[in-house]
Amino acid sequence: MLSKSKVFITRPIPEEGIALLKKRANVTLRRADSVISRRDLLKGVGKVEGLLSILTDKIDGAVMDAAPNLKVIANYAVGFDNIDVEAATQRGIVVTNTPGVMDEAVAEHALALILAVSRRVVEADHFTRAEKYKAWMPMGFIGPSLRGKTMGIIGMGRIGSTLAQMVHDGLGMNIVYTDFQINKQLEKELGAKKVTMNELLKRADVISVHVPLLPSTTHLIDTAEFKKMKKTAILINTSRGPVVSEKALTRALKSKAILGAGIDVFECEPSIDCDPSDQLELKVLDNVVLTPHIASATNEARIAMSTLAATAILDALSNKKPKTIVNPEVWSRRRR
Ligand code: GLV
Ligand code: GLV
Repeated sequence: MLSKSKVFITRPIPEEGIALLKKRANVTLRRADSVISRRDLLKGVGKVEGLLSILTDKIDGAVMDAAPNLKVIANYAVGFDNIDVEAATQRGIVVTNTPGVMDEAVAEHALALILAVSRRVVEADHFTRAEKYKAWMPMGFIGPSLRGKTMGIIGMGRIGSTLAQMVHDGLGMNIVYTDFQINKQLEKELGAKKVTMNELLKRADVISVHVPLLPSTTHLIDTAEFKKMKKTAILINTSRGPVVSEKALTRALKSKAILGAGIDVFECEPSIDCDPSDQLELKVLDNVVLTPHIASATNEARIAMSTLAATAILDALSNKKPKTIVNPEVWSRRRR
């Protein structure tokens, strides 16, 4: 039964996951390394039981309706805001993501951005390449040290906790955080303290956002939030672009209301400028480091994501509840 199941992969991912799928299913891999067009997506899902999607694929009710046999959508990402999960649940389609295998990768990238901003690494690199380094500068490229400073983590889930551990153990930072729940273990091990959003914004020297994109987290960081931050604060976003208002961020950076920012995700991604007419461009500012949504881009994380997504598809197609199901309520009335 399973050997006849058809699985569609919308874009090349590490071979490990593809090989797993090929052992037990009839796999169609779209080989072009570009975002799939809507047309090709609607066509590609036509006869399949399993879909391995990436976060730039918008999987809505129309895509599901073009796939009458579709039983499982495995998103090659921890975030799944590109999928209409409610529409999937209504149709009896299982949706899975890839949690737990990229916590180090994303936390390491957040750390890379923190240090790149605080020690002005990119700015200094540009300066050096331009052969502007003429003599050692007693007052050049000075930034804050991090030891003893306060790290504010918004969203103390797996990734937030991993970052908290890294900056506490590695840099000697104090940790404050916001979350729905108290993380007793981290409070005990790291002396982390759960505070209100207001308090976190006022106290933190570095603020890093680790929440999923939901209606309630859209523009979680907006003008009012930037106003509460220290003038010396650094903001890091490796979660989803719309969690931070790009306009408010650019204004805060331009007016030096905060020291700097490290940004891996963009409100109008892949564009890094939602409104070209507003004279607010991140890319012209020196106090921001920009990366193209690469926080999970380690060999280890991407291989693990590919095998986890493949395993979820194989499990669902052999009537085994995937460990990474995001709509568990669908399981008892799933399509068979
Ligand atoms: C990447 O952004 C992910 O959600 O995995
Ligand atoms: C810096 O290079 C120093 O020697 O202090």
